[in-house]
Amino acid sequence: MARDEHQIFAAELDINNEMKNVEIRAGETLLHLLRNKLSLTGAKPGCLNGDCGACTVMVDNLPFKSCIMLAIEAAGHKITTIEGLRDTPIQNAFIRHFAFQCGYCTPGFIINCHSLLSTHITPSKEVVKSWLASNICRCTSYQEIEEAILSVIETE
Ligand code: FES
Ligand code: FES
Repeated sequence: MARDEHQIFAAELDINNEMKNVEIRAGETLLHLLRNKLSLTGAKPGCLNGDCGACTVMVDNLPFKSCIMLAIEAAGHKITTIEGLRDTPIQNAFIRHFAFQCGYCTPGFIINCHSLLSTHITPSKEVVKSWLASNICRCTSYQEIEEAILSVIETE
């Protein structure tokens, strides 16, 4: 039987530590749900095919590209968007190290870096570089971002 991507499911999702009751279309991406039904616009639509990382959110403790994840797959997991981070060490380090220029890629970078620091006690420079490879910035180098991450590692 062919799957109907317009079929609607009722679900309860844990978004930024709040339970949200939502209706989800079978083929709906998590990015679409966050932005268009929950008004959480921090995750950005960039390439929409899993390349740029602008749409990155945390699923449990790991970074996921919400443009290529079905919203229904979020059921049973803790979803954290940039709106759910407040005054974290990496956000403050981004400010101190001027680790951003635009607001488009930055939420995805911060979520990715926060996830890195949540899952690694002392990641090596190689691990930091490989972790950052999943996010694309078209206008600056990654040096300031790496410095921000390393400053958090050194102070913790
Ligand atoms: S918009 Fe999701 S990876 Fe680019
Ligand atoms: S600072 Fe956002 S794309 Fe470069």
